[in-house]
Amino acid sequence: MSEDLELELVVGAPAAGGSCVARADDGRVVFVRHALPGERVRAIVTSSTSKFLRADAVEVLEASPHRVVPPCPYAGPGLCGGCDWQHVAVPHQRELKAALVAEQLQRLAGLDLPVVVEEVPGAPDGLGWRTRVQFAVAPSGQVGLRKHRSHELQPVDRCLIASPEVEAVGVEALRWPGVSGVEVAATGAQRVLALTSRGRPQPPPVEAGLAVDGRPTRAPHGLRHEVLGRSFEVGTGGFWQVHPGAAQALAQAVLDGLDPQPGERALDLYAGVGLFAALLGERVGATGSVLAVESNPHATADAARNTADLPQVKVRTAAVDPAVLTRAGAVDLVVLDPPRAGAGLEVTRVLAGMRPRRLVYVACDPASFARDLKVLLDVGWELEGLRGLDLFPMTEHVELVAVLTPPLF
Ligand SMILES: C[S@@+](CC[C@H](N)C(=O)[O-])C[C@H]1O[C@@H](n2cnc3c(N)ncnc32)[C@H](O)[C@@H]1O
Repeated sequence: MSEDLELELVVGAPAAGGSCVARADDGRVVFVRHALPGERVRAIVTSSTSKFLRADAVEVLEASPHRVVPPCPYAGPGLCGGCDWQHVAVPHQRELKAALVAEQLQRLAGLDLPVVVEEVPGAPDGLGWRTRVQFAVAPSGQVGLRKHRSHELQPVDRCLIASPEVEAVGVEALRWPGVSGVEVAATGAQRVLALTSRGRPQPPPVEAGLAVDGRPTRAPHGLRHEVLGRSFEVGTGGFWQVHPGAAQALAQAVLDGLDPQPGERALDLYAGVGLFAALLGERVGATGSVLAVESNPHATADAARNTADLPQVKVRTAAVDPAVLTRAGAVDLVVLDPPRAGAGLEVTRVLAGMRPRRLVYVACDPASFARDLKVLLDVGWELEGLRGLDLFPMTEHVELVAVLTPPLF
């Protein structure tokens, strides 16, 4: 079966990667984009292997009641790959995410659990929420966004999921000679650009902080965010969630899940610029302690500044591994917020053996989370609660916050 071949398909459940699963006549699985469960579509095959095909739905023969006209003109077969579900009503996007998480928990952790994905304030209609957007730049200097699974560029004159502050910078209307990528981050009146060079960059005049290939060249060198009454500096290169409501929603969920008490000892793993460490530091107080572990030295420099008023918080620049955990000694509370790969089986096994009073796992990848969760469940840990937060409307991505307690014996 070759690419460009047309198929008529009945579409089934959503799959990881923003597509839905269908079956070709020869029995092979087809991952169909731009479709919805229950639909009958005409689709064009975009790639194939001996085991599965990928296809784009190009005509809807029987539509789902949850289908809408994509608000973005660049969403659709062969166009921008940034959003997966512009053609889906926003409340149903959350139902699809919940179904995906439930399926992965069942398959990878053996857990049958009803999952709910909650709306997070700050993204009306699922649009205007990204406070940081990475644009690619063509050799001509024109800005665009990447097509799905491709290095090809879709020129755009605006991005509907970008926040109004990011769009106000007006990057798309300008030419960027000598540049291969422009990342724009903006919040309130603050804005910073991070350029990747292609030869000698000649950026147009834009009122914003500037870094070129990671080197700060014009202030400001980062953004400042307020969360639960504290201020956080995030320099270029440091991690900060892109949804405007994310940091507060996650921080509150972590505090609710851990319920930190004065005098307790806490670990914040994959700590970024110290969001959870600072808030935990306030709660455990001067008689408690927090150790924040993060591998990016730019982030730990920010974390040290962001927690400078809390001597009970220590920040360590290190990869989270069994040796670091063993050196940390006994702790009452653990929060971990690893990148997409998850904490991994080895780290999770060590955490299980440390038996903190409570552990909160913040996960951006349901599959790696489910694999790590299984390690804990297999040795008797209880999943006390699981929340899904819609921090990435219009895409298949979802954030999970799981609260776990160790076995009593
Ligand atoms: C999802 S972010 C979490 C940041 C922080 N909890 C927050 O909410 O702002 C993951 C962080 O893990 C860091 N990281 C990635 N791999 C790591 C590792 N092996 N050990 C320690 N930190 C790591 C990244 O630099 C990033 O700052």
